[in-house]
Amino acid sequence: MDTKNDSSKWFNVQLVPHSHIFSRNDRPGKEPIPLCKTIPVVDINTGERNYRPSKRANTIQAIIRAGQEFGFFQVVNHGVPEEAVFEAEEVTKELFSMGVDEISADSDATGWVYMGSCSTNYATKDAHLWRENIKHPCHPLEECLQYWPRKPARYRDVISAYIAEIKKLSLKILGLISEGLGLEEGYLEGMSQVQFLTASNYPPCPNPSLTLGLLKHFDHSLITILFQGDVEGLQVMKDGKWIGIETVPHAFVVNIGTQLEIISNGKLRSAEHRVVTNPYKARTSIATFINPCPNSIIQPAQILLNKSNPPLYQPLLFKKFVTLSKPFGPFTDALTSDITP
Ligand code: OGA
Ligand code: NI
Repeated sequence: MDTKNDSSKWFNVQLVPHSHIFSRNDRPGKEPIPLCKTIPVVDINTGERNYRPSKRANTIQAIIRAGQEFGFFQVVNHGVPEEAVFEAEEVTKELFSMGVDEISADSDATGWVYMGSCSTNYATKDAHLWRENIKHPCHPLEECLQYWPRKPARYRDVISAYIAEIKKLSLKILGLISEGLGLEEGYLEGMSQVQFLTASNYPPCPNPSLTLGLLKHFDHSLITILFQGDVEGLQVMKDGKWIGIETVPHAFVVNIGTQLEIISNGKLRSAEHRVVTNPYKARTSIATFINPCPNSIIQPAQILLNKSNPPLYQPLLFKKFVTLSKPFGPFTDALTSDITP
């Protein structure tokens, strides 16, 4: 479903309104930003235990190196059925085609579901984001379902099925990272949960140089698993420069969150990223945040520490970290409300 011809939407304008123009420091400007051809695309299937050990070791190494160098990689051959991804993308587009006010009006989740748009005063430090988004908790799934949108009618079914698949994938990836870092078996998997989902609609924008779909930020996750469809827009900071992440058919983008940077004692890096807009096409993304359980104490893993590798970070309860950190926007506000018994 293409939203660009819907004349009733706030974004169907000839000029970017003042409310959405970012400061000179934050706006992308006119300089073209190259797509990065070197962010690794990892065939995750080759990391399965029944694969040839040398091949499996290469897969693990590729992930660790990507985590060190870019904080980002993509995974293909990941085992999430195409159908589950397709359905999630379709139902998300349907959701946004309804309009923000209709979704919010029909929500039981006051304080849990955030809708960002021009009309809902979801401002960053100085400008509104060029997007609409919905963010809701996913863990424990059965308890969270009641807070999810009621419409489209199949949203809850489709997204629960998607989350179940993302959970399996996250355990696979965290298992390979645990092994690559030399952590005990199950170290990262044991503390993880698919805690939140953020779905975004970035409408076409008349002047992408002035505004942003999403301001630069870090994710406070262990890892984030992102479906970005076939419209580019995500950019990552690397050596002081922005680089664009290519779209790869049937891939997920995975990034290292701040919590995994801490646990790895800085071996893996959490990279700043942002989303620029597209003049012609709407972009739909679905980000799933694989976070530590709220009561996990986040600190460099003991097994990695020695005289020449002293801890670089203080231990902190994850939920405390979330209340203390101040990235832009409502991301952290949502996390502080602990729904886990
Ligand atoms: C996020 C994020 C990227 C995207 O939600 O934290 O970085 O492409 N999203 O929507
Ligand atoms: Ni992010």
